[in-house]
Amino acid sequence: MNLKGKDYIETQDLSVGEIEHLLDTAVQLKADFHAGKATITLPNQTVFLLFFDKSTRTRNAFEAGATQLGAHAHFLDSSATQISHGETATDTGIILGSMGHAIAIRHDLIPGAGNSYMREVAAATDVPVINMQCDIDHPTQTLADLMTIRETFGNDLEGKKIAVSWAYAPSYAKPLSVPQGLITLMTRFGMDVTLAHPPEFKLMEPTMQAARGNAKEAGTKFDVTDDMDAAFENADIVYPKSWGAYDLMHERLDLKTQDQLRANEEACLKLNAKYKSWICDERRMKIAAKNSIYMHCLPADRGSEVTDAVIDGPQSVVFPEAENRLHTAKAIMQCMMRERPF
Ligand code: CP
Repeated sequence: MNLKGKDYIETQDLSVGEIEHLLDTAVQLKADFHAGKATITLPNQTVFLLFFDKSTRTRNAFEAGATQLGAHAHFLDSSATQISHGETATDTGIILGSMGHAIAIRHDLIPGAGNSYMREVAAATDVPVINMQCDIDHPTQTLADLMTIRETFGNDLEGKKIAVSWAYAPSYAKPLSVPQGLITLMTRFGMDVTLAHPPEFKLMEPTMQAARGNAKEAGTKFDVTDDMDAAFENADIVYPKSWGAYDLMHERLDLKTQDQLRANEEACLKLNAKYKSWICDERRMKIAAKNSIYMHCLPADRGSEVTDAVIDGPQSVVFPEAENRLHTAKAIMQCMMRERPF
């Protein structure tokens, strides 16, 4: 399996076999990391990390991971680059691509903007473009999530039920890309997926269609409900997290000033506050299957999305899940980056 030079923008772009190869590589890299074994597979290579939004896990997984593979991760805050003066995605892609070996991008807060930006960069360069979270998918997160689920339940996940649920958060209108990434990836890997959200928090229709198609092809189930308890019923994996209302967030494409953006964010949070009862607590964990696990991509709004008792409790796997961001980021870089000339 040779993925050298391939982009990693949505898991839908990769075959099941290619994703299996990334997971196998991550498992091996994790074992090597814990054994203290050096894995200098990308010496002298550079990955540019271009961020339009904040990050703790993703940035550090790629920075630490690049170091551990012998490469260098070069952090770029988009607001401190000429992108903020209007330099185009194409020009940025050509230039960064001519200087390094991969371009990783996070651009996730404006539905309709991030994924198309990445695809424009990818069209302009021969180096792989890696999606560190866009408006549509968060494929480095969901790969780590799948790795974590397999570590818990084994590789055969047939008949396992995952509840992907909206949850209340007062902090900010979070992107839709994690639930969208989960419903598209997990339906391909044996799991029955139930998506739960209040009526205003629908996901993007093309993603819903993709999840339905994946479930049909893989012989899994994909159900949707507006009842968080119903989604949790007998679930083996619960993944409750907040996301913003698509219709409101989509308006950001046309907003020009900071005042307009602030007002939009306030409107998003006001809508969130209608559904404060959508919290993952001990009562809801009792509705799930006895040996169920609690997952969250983090950061979690403690006390709103989830109680401390659950996130710090015995069913929570959030910290191993976060560590797996490192191993999967390394697998993606190792499999996709390549030496020049190419
Ligand atoms: N889960 C995740 O992507 O975390 P960060 O936003 O901290 O990168």
